[in-house]
Amino acid sequence: MARRYVAISGSPSATSRSALLADTLLDRLPDGCEGTHLRLSTLDPAALISADWRDPGIAAAVEAVSQAHGVILVTPVYKAAYSGVLKCFLDLLDQFAFAGKAVLPLATGGSLAHALAIDYGLRPVLQSMGARHVVQGVMVLSDHLETTPAGGLVINEQAERLLAPAMKHFLSAGSDDPALSLMGHPDPARLHPPAAPALKV
Ligand SMILES: Cc1cc2nc3c(=O)[nH]c(=O)nc-3n(C[C@H](O)[C@H](O)[C@H](O)COP(=O)(O)O)c2cc1C
Repeated sequence: MARRYVAISGSPSATSRSALLADTLLDRLPDGCEGTHLRLSTLDPAALISADWRDPGIAAAVEAVSQAHGVILVTPVYKAAYSGVLKCFLDLLDQFAFAGKAVLPLATGGSLAHALAIDYGLRPVLQSMGARHVVQGVMVLSDHLETTPAGGLVINEQAERLLAPAMKHFLSAGSDDPALSLMGHPDPARLHPPAAPALKV
């Protein structure tokens, strides 16, 4: 079975560098991996705010997360925190939606002064949603991400020095061990189903 990865980008902007970064990282997945980009700004805003799981876009996004082995989150830093769009999406997911998964948290922002937003704001939420392993996050300065007229992204050397090892770490944090697939979930019966009772004769 192909290893599945989801990148969730949380910018409301139509010209989002965070979204382009998510696309770039998905393009770097090794052969045999499947990548899906959930660009949250393309979801129906009313459905997102009201956590409407019946909405086809929301349902597909929730399903993509549940099927993923690993999740990359890319959020712009807004007011020293992760974006409100990302918050809406995380709030509609199941409490343990990241159980068993490796998660790579990334942020783009104007100032490294707010790099702490990843570990102070985002990491505790991901951990409490059951993530098996939240790897070291990276904040990338928007000045280090240059958009091209063709709609592409050029990542400068300084940012690349941080992103390349983070991706390596993330990819090596994945596991095919089924016993780890619900690690982080609080219900041990789902993690290790009880053995059938021995029959008395
Ligand atoms: C409303 C708003 C608030 C922002 N607040 C911060 C901030 O507190 N700290 C920071 O470093 N950058 C801040 N920025 C800059 C963005 O994080 C930065 O431009 C980011 O790369 C935008 O990502 P995007 O292109 O994916 O939307 C803010 C930008 C906006 C529009």
